[in-house]
Amino acid sequence: MAQLWGGRFTKETDKLVYQFNASISFDRKFYKQDIEGSIAHVRMLGRQGIVTPEESKALAEELKKILSEVEAGTLLITEQYEDIHSFVEAELIRRLGDTGKKLHTGRSRNDQVALDMRMYIRMEVAQTDALLKELLETILTIMKAHTDTIMPGFTHLQKAQPVTLAHHMGAYFEMFKRDRQRMRDIYERMNYCPLGSGALAGTTYPLDRAYTAQALGFYAPSLNSMDGVSDRDYVIEYLSALATVMMHLSRFSEEVIIWNSNEYQFVEIDDGYSTGSSIMPQKKNPDIAELVRGKAGRVYGALVSLLTTMKGIPLAYNKDMQEDKELTFDAADTAKGCLALFNGMLATMRFRKEQMRKSAALGFTNATDAADYLVNHGVAFRDAHGIIGRLVLYCIEKNCSIDELTLDELKAASPVFEEDVYEAVSMETCVNKRLTVGAPGKAAMEQVIRMEEEYLAKSVFPQADWEEALLS
Ligand code: ARG
Repeated sequence: MAQLWGGRFTKETDKLVYQFNASISFDRKFYKQDIEGSIAHVRMLGRQGIVTPEESKALAEELKKILSEVEAGTLLITEQYEDIHSFVEAELIRRLGDTGKKLHTGRSRNDQVALDMRMYIRMEVAQTDALLKELLETILTIMKAHTDTIMPGFTHLQKAQPVTLAHHMGAYFEMFKRDRQRMRDIYERMNYCPLGSGALAGTTYPLDRAYTAQALGFYAPSLNSMDGVSDRDYVIEYLSALATVMMHLSRFSEEVIIWNSNEYQFVEIDDGYSTGSSIMPQKKNPDIAELVRGKAGRVYGALVSLLTTMKGIPLAYNKDMQEDKELTFDAADTAKGCLALFNGMLATMRFRKEQMRKSAALGFTNATDAADYLVNHGVAFRDAHGIIGRLVLYCIEKNCSIDELTLDELKAASPVFEEDVYEAVSMETCVNKRLTVGAPGKAAMEQVIRMEEEYLAKSVFPQADWEEALLS
């Protein structure tokens, strides 16, 4: 057991208490952020004359060494320490003696952990954005290739009107585009530096908070030290955005599962992304899609858990906040893993165009257009609706589609029908006459594809700003 405190204690901490309290098993995950934060801190201490220039340099250099040794695997972070902060400080003292003991001057673990978590989540936000962007690129590739691929569009999971695969994919493009916007929003709000907030009330040392904020790639220091140590809004916002990402992925997965079923056969999942059954030799299961759908619950759980943890906490820091880490790390890893795997599955999935087209043609998806044909020839819409409804009933009895009826059969339903009705209710016409912005008609779709292409080309996450600033 190695801890940073103990001076005012007369008894050793109970072993179980120590274990219950310790966080090293999970906060070791942000060793890099912890060390980077410490480097900025000791540089600032030197600039402000709080430690000597020599001490500042020695501390920064040794911290860099510790970082590279941890990364190389030659220095192990062991559970002998209470948390990652204690580990780094103990290691520094072991190497630098009394100089190492000056690291924590003008700092508390409360502002330190607030900084580490913020930097870690900032990185996660950027990585999530990058994965979302890759997924958008895959979706856009499919959109470009399938502006002519007709498929049924559904409402109530009943065939409704024909659309194209490009159009259907375009809906997901919009969803994941909004998810990226949410990442950007979170970044803009969270990118303020809590370092220098101290335990809760700042410090009497003349810290230069603007310097550390800038060195660590933040816009500015946070403006209230009590809020600085106890704000976890950005974690909640990130979890909430991840919950939405997972909801989108889960809906998409559900469709892949349906499309891949024996009944639909709209898609074939690549062998590399399917699994077999131990007993049924014919099986090729969409396990990846099912797992993604299933893992949504796990990410929602993290959000609800942290909201609940935070709701009763008085200002400022309280140990409850240590509970922000495990679930958040798990949620981020889960969501990022799902994004990468789903992207791979989608990119390698085969779309069975013939099957989709056949399904659209056999589902009376042109019934609205047949009614519109009558309206264009002078029939009131409500009457046209009734006529086509009866015609559909007739077709169901005959087991055929509207365009398979003879002109005589059509005329029996309404004398208004002429030869040009076949063209008017063809799948191609039904789709390509829908030309309002956002509709599946090819010309409208191509315009949207161009806009999405432009969006992808110019949407860059501001990550480089701080990645370069760090450790330079
Ligand atoms: N492990 C703690 C956490 O995650 C670090 C802060 C500890 N501060 C304290 N006063 N005990 O929140």
